[in-house]
Amino acid sequence: MASPFAGRRLAHWLLLSGICTLALLQYHRILYAEQQVPLHITKALDRCHSLTVIPGPPADFHARSASDRFQAGTRPTILLNARIWTGEKNGTEIIEADILLDKGIIKGIGHISRLLSRSDVAERDAVVHDVKGSWVIPGIVDMHSHLGDAPLPSLDGAEDDNSNKGPIVPWMRSFDGLNTHDDSFRLSISGGVTTSLILPGSANAIGGQGFPIKLRTTSERSASSMLLEPPSTINSSHYDHRSPLHWRHMKHACGRVYSNTRMDSIWAFREAYNTAKKLKESQDAYCAKAATGQLEDSEEFPEDLAWEPLSEVLRGRVKVHIHCYETTDLDGLSRISNEFKFPIAAFHHAHESYLVPNVLRNTYGPTPGVAIFANNARYKREAYRGTPFAAKILASEGIEVAMKSDHPVMNSRYLLFEAQSAYYNGFPENLAIASVTSTPAKLLGLGHRVGFVKEGGPDLVVFDSHPLALGATPKQVYIDGIPQLESPFTVEKPKKLQEAPKVPKFDREAEDAVKYEGLPPLLNEKNRLTGDVLFTNVENVYLPDGSRISHSQLFHESVDGETFPPSVLVQEGLVTCIGSCTQEIFMAQAQNVTIIDLEGGALSPGLVSFGAPLGLEEIQAEKSTNDGTLIDPLTAVTPKILDDGEGGVVRAVDGLSFMGRDTLLAYRAGVTTAISAPVSYNFLAGLGVAFSTGARHKLEDGAVVRSMTALHVHVGPGQGVSVSTQIATLRRLLMDGERHGAFQRVARGKIPLVAHTHSADVIATLITLKKEIEHHTKTKIKLTIAGGGEAHLLAKELGAAKVGVILNPVRPFPLAWESRRILPGPPLTEESQISRLLKHKVTVGVGILESWEAQNARFDLGWVAVESGGKISTEQAFESGTVNLVKLLGVEGERDLKEADGVDSVLKGELVATVGGDLLEFGSKVVAVVSSRRGFVDVF
Ligand SMILES: *[C@@H]1O[C@H](CO)[C@@H](O)[C@H](O)[C@H]1NC(C)=O
Ligand SMILES: *[C@@H]1O[C@H](CO)[C@@H](O)[C@H](O)[C@H]1NC(C)=O
Ligand SMILES: *[C@@H]1O[C@H](CO)[C@@H](O)[C@H](O)[C@H]1NC(C)=O
Repeated sequence: MASPFAGRRLAHWLLLSGICTLALLQYHRILYAEQQVPLHITKALDRCHSLTVIPGPPADFHARSASDRFQAGTRPTILLNARIWTGEKNGTEIIEADILLDKGIIKGIGHISRLLSRSDVAERDAVVHDVKGSWVIPGIVDMHSHLGDAPLPSLDGAEDDNSNKGPIVPWMRSFDGLNTHDDSFRLSISGGVTTSLILPGSANAIGGQGFPIKLRTTSERSASSMLLEPPSTINSSHYDHRSPLHWRHMKHACGRVYSNTRMDSIWAFREAYNTAKKLKESQDAYCAKAATGQLEDSEEFPEDLAWEPLSEVLRGRVKVHIHCYETTDLDGLSRISNEFKFPIAAFHHAHESYLVPNVLRNTYGPTPGVAIFANNARYKREAYRGTPFAAKILASEGIEVAMKSDHPVMNSRYLLFEAQSAYYNGFPENLAIASVTSTPAKLLGLGHRVGFVKEGGPDLVVFDSHPLALGATPKQVYIDGIPQLESPFTVEKPKKLQEAPKVPKFDREAEDAVKYEGLPPLLNEKNRLTGDVLFTNVENVYLPDGSRISHSQLFHESVDGETFPPSVLVQEGLVTCIGSCTQEIFMAQAQNVTIIDLEGGALSPGLVSFGAPLGLEEIQAEKSTNDGTLIDPLTAVTPKILDDGEGGVVRAVDGLSFMGRDTLLAYRAGVTTAISAPVSYNFLAGLGVAFSTGARHKLEDGAVVRSMTALHVHVGPGQGVSVSTQIATLRRLLMDGERHGAFQRVARGKIPLVAHTHSADVIATLITLKKEIEHHTKTKIKLTIAGGGEAHLLAKELGAAKVGVILNPVRPFPLAWESRRILPGPPLTEESQISRLLKHKVTVGVGILESWEAQNARFDLGWVAVESGGKISTEQAFESGTVNLVKLLGVEGERDLKEADGVDSVLKGELVATVGGDLLEFGSKVVAVVSSRRGFVDVF
């Protein structure tokens, strides 16, 4: 819904710029009427005229026959039989056509014979690809990225995305720190990203100027040559008034930045804009004097290199991007925009924007867009009220929504997943694809260049499935008409994935998000059923079976001429019948049975989450919400009172909190068990815990599944002591037969040692150490690698040594030096890290890093199966998110659970019911959790 306010403000805005232009026409009339205008006045008027130019493409832009970014030697390309999402008609236009690319731009879309007849391209000179009905969308545009400024692998010497010179630094330019060797460029391109706005970080209130870049390596290999429509000022301090004026971009961050309180921050903004306003007013006064011929020869145009960027904001010639989370801050910046009269292009992150659309409308000028994450929230207080339904809600309010990566906060290679995730949560299909293409392109003022598939637009991505299908992967990516993937590996995707997935409805959940201001109740005890529950129309059942997951497909059954839907009966949290269940239903009827129709859905094992501090941290940045800090026994003295001869091994169970929001969101998304290790940034972490995500407190029946699981250590560079010191410590603690602590339980093979590391060299050392200890103690020890970014390099050796690996993250990302040698998977490599490990019979678990990711566990697993093109079955994907984690993390055992030992006893009867499809697919929604260990069914 468009706001009448927005319209009025826009009109007001246009009127103002109109008045300026009229005034200038007036100067020119004076100029031409009196032929004898002194030279200094002519020059001044020329300079003054330049102040009124509105940024945008020159009038003849659309008639261009070649791109200014054309790389000589690039051959024309013809794509035959494309299914094109163009971005036009509000993102609803889809056409089937051929595409001709030449001279760095799309020369035509239509039938190839007609396209060739209109161009000077001969078919034999062109590279021709029949894409056979593949989806083609515009190159993905990421409007919030730190690519190049925070390059990977992350090294101290190249963290260049913030200034530490003060809260107000509008003069900073992000591209001055742009490192062209960032490993991410190639990876992000392989995910279809072609254009990114590189913004300064958020350490400053006014952090400086952002610059859009194209991600491809240019023939010059320079940062400058990557810039898209750079302002003419990059080689000089002044405009070249003959060149067209391009949009500039300015980063602001609100809230508590640069050790300011909110009141300090707002004052810092006002003071800065007041300075800029004075500069602008002195320029306007100069121009008024020039217009009336009163300017002295000696008077110079008032310039100030430092404040010029902000005075340009006040002239409305800069897209202002504000990192701003919560209502207080959105409102504060709205006041600043109204006080100083400048429009805001977009609020970024904007976790509470869905609660206050009117605050957005009340900013000065046109209503800003928002650039948001789909699910990433709660990492700091400002993000605590974030909801996955924000895109849906904001779209219904008529606010433009773009999805962004904040790369490397999130890997922009998977920016498309953000659009998919928002789509799953109710964001309309047309807007979802637009949210990573045409919407950010328009918000950046670059719609004439990127974000659409149209004549003159240069960047395209050819996908192996519908772009909103889980795991959609580029088959080819074109930037400036140049194919970016040298020899792409593609997987044949099933026909079902060639259409937009059917998604469930979340209207009630979205309404609740607003009603409860982002904190809706997530556990309703009224919906806890202790009686019998009959699930009907169940199409698939996946159940733990020893250390495997088995699958059965169910069908309607005919009994005595009557047809019965496939059903599953649950009594006291245990499955008592699968099939038509006529007999059992008859028996159960007397017992008061609740019937839940799954409409072709499934019952699946409750998933297990590992790797994030679920239960130990609620808001990462808020100490008072967390278990807290551990002592590092290798660099600090362990207090005598804690000294157990092993550095003070702690148990995660002792610091556990229940009912955390991420924990409950995970529960509602099918994660019934979480395994957490004590949070450590040092060598020693401690003993992990397995707990029920849906429990209210520790003393509830079945809340703690195993109070002590594996022993966790972190081995790797960058800690207080060397890797060799860490290994020496492990060797001593595992060899010493005198002790009775956690390390001895590891040495005696009772519990696994989970070594958190990515480095192949550290993994090799640990395999050697394992052999050495086993030789010495004549006992097999259980070793698990967690992290495992480079584990694929030792797949064979890990398989032979029976060392399992938990991949967290499952899709690799070369964040650190020790995890830089990744196996990226399709389209860059045929194998992925998980497929290579499984090929060598390594037991693999899928983990996560941050708590909010737990709710996406189901899609992480589904993605693994989809990406493998059938090499990894759905059952295997399930195993890596359930039984394998239980095994690798030492959750087997005789304590805590009343029942017998074994992997499946931990999970047996922990089931998730989905309506409309399988748990690992976008088509389904979790409607209930069956818990045998707690003896009830929770209905959502
Ligand atoms: C664009 O699409 C959205 C979602 O489908 C719809 O709500 C909106 O009204 C459309 N806008 C226009 C201008 O058609
Ligand atoms: C800056 O100067 C270089 C070298 O002359 C030139 O290639 C480039 O196009 C200039 N950039 C702009 C934005 O004028
Ligand atoms: C049947 O179950 C419902 C919900 O659990 C409960 O409210 C109701 O009292 C039960 N009725 C009988 C007859 O047990």
